[in-house]
Amino acid sequence: MRIACVAGARPNYMKVKPVLDALAERGADVVLVHTGQHYDEAMSEVFFADLGLRSPDYHLGAGSGSHATQTSRVMTAFEPLLERLRPDAVVVVGDVNSTLACALVTAKSDALLGHVEAGLRSRDPTMPEEVNRVVTDRISDFLFAPSPDAVANLAAEGCGEDQVHLVGNVMVDTLLANLDRALASDILSRLGLEPGGYGLVTLHRPANVDDEATLDSLLGALAEVSRRCPLVLPAHPRAAQRLGSAGPAHRVRVVPAVGYLDFIALEASARLVLTDSGGVQEETTVLGVPCLTLRDNTERPITVAEGTNQVVGRTPERIVAAACRVIEDPPAGRAPALWDGKAGQRIADVLVSADGTVRPLRLSARSATPQAASI
Ligand code: UD1
Ligand code: UDP
Repeated sequence: MRIACVAGARPNYMKVKPVLDALAERGADVVLVHTGQHYDEAMSEVFFADLGLRSPDYHLGAGSGSHATQTSRVMTAFEPLLERLRPDAVVVVGDVNSTLACALVTAKSDALLGHVEAGLRSRDPTMPEEVNRVVTDRISDFLFAPSPDAVANLAAEGCGEDQVHLVGNVMVDTLLANLDRALASDILSRLGLEPGGYGLVTLHRPANVDDEATLDSLLGALAEVSRRCPLVLPAHPRAAQRLGSAGPAHRVRVVPAVGYLDFIALEASARLVLTDSGGVQEETTVLGVPCLTLRDNTERPITVAEGTNQVVGRTPERIVAAACRVIEDPPAGRAPALWDGKAGQRIADVLVSADGTVRPLRLSARSATPQAASI
């Protein structure tokens, strides 16, 4: 039984690792495909080293480009590979362009398609990731949901009950598996930071960093917060050029993007985190670190309902007020059910039958009409 797992961009490596390991433990012939959507050492190789992730068996070299260019490059490279490998199933993770591209190719092949992190919805159609999520879920055979809200979204869109599996959160598998090693990182002393004495910032959403006026306004808010608590901002390449000169006048320190173990170390000891990242909202929930999400919505509402996350939008006054509040009075949160380090195992249990073959499946996604399609 052969299963191809796809990774392409920064958060994918953390998501694919526990699935890959669990499938390999069950004797599957696992093939790792890197699409090359992210390619800088700091956006790719560092994670293979930090996570002990095996080298990709195939690298598609897609690189950067417009949405259509990038998506079509991945598709064009993935299709002949799939024809050659003839896997029984393909597993895609998350919501990046590589996820959508490989899902589309797989859905038109003989292989079954599994989507890890299915059912998340921001209900913001201007987010490219929302398009990727909705389309990938619609054409997947196996839908692996991290939380009950995701299951409810899939049910509302008419997905078959036999397709949807509540398995927990693979990002949390990787976080728990690597936490001790991350806490041994010396990144705090390298940056001259004291545990609990700084805030951590990440920004990379186009809606936050592509428009100069929006970014300036966010930087103004961060400068204000930094009067209370110095901030460190490891910069994603999308933001790096624009952020290059920001900061020195205030206590907002921009540094290059860091590796996974260093980032988790920074996150775990931060007084607060300000972010527009999806994965960071989940990690702070499990670490119990206050998180302010600098967006108008989240596809991960459970991090607000049960964790330490607050969606505060982009208005500077609101961001500063929320930051001052959590610095004084950090909220208590708890890890959602099944965010326990075993999501990868549950996914492999669904995919691989006891006799080592891909679990037989009624192909609901391809053969049945959704009962109450709302998309
Ligand atoms: C992508 C995902 C986003 C995810 C993020 C994780 C899509 C639509 N977006 O956004 O959902 O949250 O990854 O980090 O798939 N660049 C480099 N080096 C690299 C990679 C990118 O310099 O290794 C620069 C290029 O200028 C590129 C830009 O970053 O054009 C954006 O990269 P891209 O992969 O298109 O989107 P991200 O913003 O990284
Ligand atoms: N991360 C990292 N280094 C950084 C910033 C983030 O290793 O400098 C990790 C973080 O711990 C999380 C993941 O990258 O595991 C989140 O990825 P990102 O914010 O790029 O994407 P998103 O989750 O928003 O899709």
